[in-house]
Amino acid sequence: MAPKKQDRDYDVVLLGATGYTGLLTAEHIVEHLPTSLRWAIVGRSRTKLDALASRLKKLGPDRIQPAIEVVSVEDQDQLDAVVRKAKVCLSVVLYFSVGRHVVRACVENGTDYLDVTGNIAELYSWIEDYHEKAKANNVALIHACGAFSAPHDLLAWAAARELKKATSSNTSEAVLSVKKITMSPSGGTVESIMSKSTVDPKTQEDARGPWSLSPLKGVPATVPTNIFGVRHVPHLGLLANSCFGLAQDRAIVHRTWGLLGGEYGPNFKYTEYESVGSTLGGVAKILSGFLLGVALSFKPTLPLVRRFLPAQGDGPDTEKTKLQDVELEAVALADTQQPEGQGKNGFARLSYKGDTYHLTGALLAQGAASLLYKREFEGGLRAGCLTPAILGDDFLDRLRGVGVSFEASIV
Ligand SMILES: NC(=O)c1ccc[n+]([C@@H]2O[C@H](COP(=O)([O-])OP(=O)(O)OC[C@H]3O[C@@H](n4cnc5c(N)ncnc54)[C@H](OP(=O)(O)O)[C@@H]3O)[C@@H](O)[C@H]2O)c1
Repeated sequence: MAPKKQDRDYDVVLLGATGYTGLLTAEHIVEHLPTSLRWAIVGRSRTKLDALASRLKKLGPDRIQPAIEVVSVEDQDQLDAVVRKAKVCLSVVLYFSVGRHVVRACVENGTDYLDVTGNIAELYSWIEDYHEKAKANNVALIHACGAFSAPHDLLAWAAARELKKATSSNTSEAVLSVKKITMSPSGGTVESIMSKSTVDPKTQEDARGPWSLSPLKGVPATVPTNIFGVRHVPHLGLLANSCFGLAQDRAIVHRTWGLLGGEYGPNFKYTEYESVGSTLGGVAKILSGFLLGVALSFKPTLPLVRRFLPAQGDGPDTEKTKLQDVELEAVALADTQQPEGQGKNGFARLSYKGDTYHLTGALLAQGAASLLYKREFEGGLRAGCLTPAILGDDFLDRLRGVGVSFEASIV
C-alpha cells in the first residue's frame, strides 16, 4: 500500500532526467524551485545520473541536492517503488515506448503526475484506461504540459474567460496565432515523430478528430481560410494555416473545454495558424510545411532527413537556443450575430525569452510546483487526466515569476 502524501520521501521525482528535456527541467528546478525541495533524478544509467548530479550541484550548491534513483521504467516493481516515494512525478521519458508504464504507476500509487506528450492516440488510450481510476484514487495527471500545447491551451482559456468576464458573451472560436517559434527539435522529439506508433489501429482511428479527447462533443471544427490557405483575423492580422501542431493543440484545448463543462460556450471551437506578413509569405510557409511533412512521412527520404537531425538524447545547442523567442497570441471571438471580430473580443498573449525546450522545462517544473504547493483546479475538478489550463491562475502566476509574460484583455 502506498504511503500517505505527507509521509513520502520526495516532493518530486523526475523520470527521464538524463534526456535533453530532462536536463533543462532539472536545471529549472535548481534555479527556481525552493531550495528545501526534496527531489530525485531518476534514470536507467548510473553514469549519466552521476554526471547530471555533478552538473546540478555546480549550478545550485546551496540547496538540497537531488537523490539519485537508478530505475528501469520497464521493471514494474522498481518503477512502483520510486513513484510511491514521491508526491509529484514528472515524466519526460520517450512516451511512445515507455510512457504508459509511468502513467499506470502514478495512478496506482497515488502520485500526481505531469508529462509533455504530444501524441493524441497515446493520450486517448491513457484517458480511456486511466481517467476514471485516477479520479477514484484522487490522482491528477496533467498531460501535454510542454511548449507545444500548454501555451495554446492557457491562451484559449484566458481569452475566453476574459470575454465572458467583461461581456458575459460566449466564445464561438478561439483563434491562435503563432507569431514566433523556432522549430529545432530534440532527438527525442525526432524519435517520437519518426517511430511507428505503438497504439493499435482501432484506437488510432478512434483518436482522430477534433473532439476525440473531449468528454463533451462540440461543433464541426473547420478551419476557415481563402483558397491560398490564408485568413485575416481582427487583432491578429494575416494568418496562414501551416501549423504542425494544430491537430494536437486542438484536441488538448477541446478537452479543457469539455472538462470545464463547455463553459466557453456551446459553439466553441479552436483554430490555429501562423502569423504571416503577406499572402505570398503565407503560401510560402504552407508550401515549406507541406514539403517537410512529405520528407518526414516518405520512407525513402527518412535516412537522409535523419542525418540532419539530432540523435536521441541530443538536441540543439542550449546556449544558442536560449536567445530565441516564443510568442503566441489568441483572440476569443464572441458568439454574436455581428460580423467576425466586430464588437468586443477576448485577447491573450504569451511571450518568453528562450526556446521551446527551455519553456518546456519551465512549464513542467512550475506545473509540479503548482501541484505540490497549491493543488487547486479550475471547474471544481479534483483528479483525472487533465490539461495544463486546468491548473489555472496559480500556474500562470508561477510562470510569470520565471520570465513568462502572459496578459489577457478585451479588444
Ligand atoms: N510537447 C512538447 O512540448 C514537448 C517538448 C519537449 C519534449 N517533448 C517530448 O518529450 C519526450 C522526451 O524528449 P527528449 O528530447 O528529452 O528525449 P531524450 O533526450 O531522448 O530523452 C529521453 C529520456 O527517456 C529515457 N528513456 C528512453 N527510453 C527509456 C526506457 N526504455 N526506459 C527508461 N528510460 C528511457 C532516456 O534515458 P537514457 O538517458 O538512459 O536513454 C532519457 O532520459 C519526447 O517524447 C518528446 O517528443 C515534448
